[in-house]
Amino acid sequence: MALPEGFRWGGAVAANQVEGAWREGGRGPAVSDVASYKPKADPKEYALHHQNTVASITAALADDDLEYYPKRRGIDFYHRYPEDLALFAEMGFTTLRVSIAWTRLYPTGEEEQPLEEGIAYYLALFTEMRRLGIEPLVTLSHYDPPMALALKHNGWVERRTIGLFERFARTCFERFGHLVDMWLTFNEIDGIIRHPFTSGGIIEETVEGNLEQACYTALHHQFVASASVTQILHELYPEAQMGCMLTMLTTYPNTCHPDDVVATQAKERLLYLCTDVQAGGAYPRLALNQLQRKGVTIPFEDGDAELLREHPVDFISFSYYMSMTESVREDAERTPGNTVLGVKNPFLPSSEWGWQIDPVGLRVSLIDLYDRYGKPLFIVENGLGMRDELEDGKIHDPYRIDYFRAHFEQMIQAVDEGVDLMGYVSWAPIDLISASSSQISKRYGFIYVDQDDLGHGTGDRYRKDSFFWYQKVIASNGTDL
Ligand code: BG6
Repeated sequence: MALPEGFRWGGAVAANQVEGAWREGGRGPAVSDVASYKPKADPKEYALHHQNTVASITAALADDDLEYYPKRRGIDFYHRYPEDLALFAEMGFTTLRVSIAWTRLYPTGEEEQPLEEGIAYYLALFTEMRRLGIEPLVTLSHYDPPMALALKHNGWVERRTIGLFERFARTCFERFGHLVDMWLTFNEIDGIIRHPFTSGGIIEETVEGNLEQACYTALHHQFVASASVTQILHELYPEAQMGCMLTMLTTYPNTCHPDDVVATQAKERLLYLCTDVQAGGAYPRLALNQLQRKGVTIPFEDGDAELLREHPVDFISFSYYMSMTESVREDAERTPGNTVLGVKNPFLPSSEWGWQIDPVGLRVSLIDLYDRYGKPLFIVENGLGMRDELEDGKIHDPYRIDYFRAHFEQMIQAVDEGVDLMGYVSWAPIDLISASSSQISKRYGFIYVDQDDLGHGTGDRYRKDSFFWYQKVIASNGTDL
């Protein structure tokens, strides 16, 4: 069993979780800037949708507290990226997934022209990556829609946002397209249903009518935008590739009771809805019926169906952290996962945050996705959030090595069975601010960042034991685990 030559290895980060420098270079506020630190919250709450109101957002924006809003400071990647890229290169990365902060180029999302300072920053970043032999994989939107659009017209609920996003994407392609060949439109596009504010800039209190309807309206607008920018990319750079990005919430029936199987099927139908549209080019009929029965309609306009059909993505990327089960029993024990609460699987261990560790689920996901779509796949997030201890400049993290080893074994097995896999980038190669809890103590990296949840520390970087292990895995293209 071996991975193909040229298999891409690396890591993934997102602008709002690493860059910091939230007010530098003319950057405008993004929804991530009001994500507060959640120190003692019950992990179950992390999975839930946090309510924001116009008043709470306005107050948060007027508050300069960097302790309470850690995404504003990130890990200072904005200034320290040369050092971090050098460490990634030392591990042997051939790919790094980063995202572009929309508000570094268009502070409110509505300007006619981009900010040259923002352009210069990303040009320097991608140029340095290329110099080190690291290919950029770039997400256009990763949980940071412009706050101005959220406050003005509920972000993606209003169709007008499509045009603004097209302008932003075109700028990215025109200005960075000579350095970037692989793009992703929306990170975990399905997430807008579970966390409308973070993904879509949707403020619940200002939604007219039903929130679920607003979420599906916004999702449709993101689908249209995704197809439209795929078309723009291919016109400008015919060889460049666009991918979609799905939260792969692999779900098993909790028991073999037929009712659990039916419930799981219904869940999976909505899970696959996004990829059916973005890769398959059309809404699946059963999912549409399922939504219609709940009173949700998709706001199709003339030309939408053709656009979706004619401009599907080139490859399918996804995040995979854990699996879930589904049960019709109301008293079934629940556990949090990646932005969800699911039914606990009695056969799996969980992390401190409740996420259930299931390497086989990665193989199940790869096989399901490849069987269903037959398009190349890319694992663009996978990893373990744990507390680490820095002792005498060292971090011993055998638990992380065990996690990755087990997942790589399953990944390689899936490739051996015939899955076409473009690459693997871990989440995250360096400790960063957690998307759900804004903690840094939920550490994912092969590189330790000396910073605590309140931002205290030197910010210095240290190689964990897993750093040297991953370096060996990459050098051997996965044969030495
Ligand atoms: C994914 C997101 O859902 O999970 C990342 O795309 C996020 O942004 C990652 O960081 C891990 O989740 P968390 O909440 O542990 O940071």
